[in-house]
Amino acid sequence: MKSPRINPSILSADFVNLQAELEAIASADLVHVDVMDNHFVPNLTMGPPIVERIQAVSPVPLDMHLMIADADRWAPGYAELGAYSVTFHAEATNDPVALARKIRDIGARAGIALKPGTDVAPYLELLPEFDQLLVMTVEPGFGGQAFMPDMMPKLQQASEAKKAHGLDIWLQVDGGITVDTIGMAAEAGADTFVAGSAVYGGVPEQRIAELRAAANAHVHTKA
Ligand code: DX5
Ligand code: ZN
Repeated sequence: MKSPRINPSILSADFVNLQAELEAIASADLVHVDVMDNHFVPNLTMGPPIVERIQAVSPVPLDMHLMIADADRWAPGYAELGAYSVTFHAEATNDPVALARKIRDIGARAGIALKPGTDVAPYLELLPEFDQLLVMTVEPGFGGQAFMPDMMPKLQQASEAKKAHGLDIWLQVDGGITVDTIGMAAEAGADTFVAGSAVYGGVPEQRIAELRAAANAHVHTKA
């Protein structure tokens, strides 16, 4: 699973044919699973029973994105289901470090997500506690929104901290990622890309290959 990683979001898949929709993205690195509780965000998706079935049939490991309140209470359960990565929101926890340690102890990678209005600076010194930082490039809640370029400085700051301290952390972007925006995110330091409508709006395997090529092209011209 080397960078750039492409993680399709099944929020844009056909929920009634999830098994086929999962098989259609077998060339992806991970499958991004958006859990929404209609409280932390104004939308509702799924909870543990459905995630358990996704875990059982998915050809690629699960990248959980928990857009739920009281992450301290609910996030460890997704690690226990066998998810590869569990990302909770900084705005939804009282103790991000304790929660990350719990998720890691269970055996999953621990991720922290920042809404567009949340500054990255207070979290930079906590990065060694995490395996992934998710910089949201749309307001969480819905697929198909426009990419927010003004989030790029957050990625640059995280990328600098990563280099300065030699951290082994993935920098993920989520929201509005397309072949046209992925290069900008890659240049700012992102290495892990979530794409919902861009993947499921066409032939998924083709779209994954196009996104991967666009991210790669960019990283190469930069180097
Ligand atoms: C939005 C979700 C995203 C969503 C992205 O709150 O976290 O994962 O699926 O969808 P696109 O790629 O269409 O912006
Ligand atoms: Zn997401």
